[in-house]
Amino acid sequence: MNVKKCLEERRTYKIIGTIAYPTEEALIDKDTIDDILKSAGNAPFHYPCDRVHMDTLSSPVPWRCYKLDTVACHELMHMLLDTGDATKVPNMLAAAQYLLQVTWLPDPGTFSGESQSKEDPMFSGTLRNMEHIAAASAFAQSLLLAAEEAGFKTYWSSGGPLRKKPVFDALGIPHTELLLGSIFLFPNEPKHAEIKSGNLADKRGAPNDWSRWCAPTKV
Ligand SMILES: Cc1cc2nc3c(=O)[nH]c(=O)nc-3n(C[C@H](O)[C@H](O)[C@H](O)COP(=O)(O)O)c2cc1C
Repeated sequence: MNVKKCLEERRTYKIIGTIAYPTEEALIDKDTIDDILKSAGNAPFHYPCDRVHMDTLSSPVPWRCYKLDTVACHELMHMLLDTGDATKVPNMLAAAQYLLQVTWLPDPGTFSGESQSKEDPMFSGTLRNMEHIAAASAFAQSLLLAAEEAGFKTYWSSGGPLRKKPVFDALGIPHTELLLGSIFLFPNEPKHAEIKSGNLADKRGAPNDWSRWCAPTKV
C-alpha cells in the first residue's frame, strides 16, 4: 500500500469480541510486529529522554512500546475480568491479536503520578515534555499506518484500565512512564465480534476547515 492510500484509508475500528470466543493465535506472526516497530521507530524525536528511563531499555527515544501477543492479551483479559472490570476492554482483548502499550517518558521531577480524573494535571507542561509527547505520538501514528499496511484493523485507545497501576505492575511497566495509548491490533476479518467506528471519524471537515494560507502583515 502506498503512503497516501494508507494515510487516507486508516480508520479506527473498535472490535468488541466475545469473551467465550477469543481470537485465534498468530494469524500474523511476531516477526511482522517487529517489522512494524522497526518502520515506526523511524519517527522523529527532538530531545533524548532522561537517563532515568534508560535502565532496562536503553534507547534515548522518548517512547517505549510493550508488546503483548494473543496469549498475553487473553491472560490480561482474564486478569481484568477476575478483578471485576466492567469496561469493554476485556472484550477488545478477546478480539485482539496483539496489544501495544505505548508510553512516553516525562522528564523527572515533572511528573506527579497517576491521575484520578481527566482534569488532573499529571505532569508539567514544559516545552521538553510537549516535544516528548509529540515525538511519541509521531511514533504511535506511524505504528497505526505500518500495522494497517500489514493487514490489521487498528484502534488507538486511551486505555481505561490499561493505564492503571495493576496493569502497569502486571506488565512490569515502570511508573515513571505515562501511557500514551493502548494500540489494539485486530485481525482484518474478526469473528464473534461487533465492530464500531471512531466517534469523530466523519467530523474532521475538509483541509480548508483546519488550515489557511498565511502571509505576514505589519502589526
Ligand atoms: C490520543 C488518542 C486517544 C484515543 N482514545 C480513544 C478512546 O479512549 N476511545 C475511543 O473510542 N477512541 C479513542 N481514540 C480514537 C478516536 O476516537 C478516533 O481517532 C476518532 O474518532 C476519529 O476516527 P478515525 O480514527 O476513524 O478517523 C483515540 C485517538 C487518539 C489519537
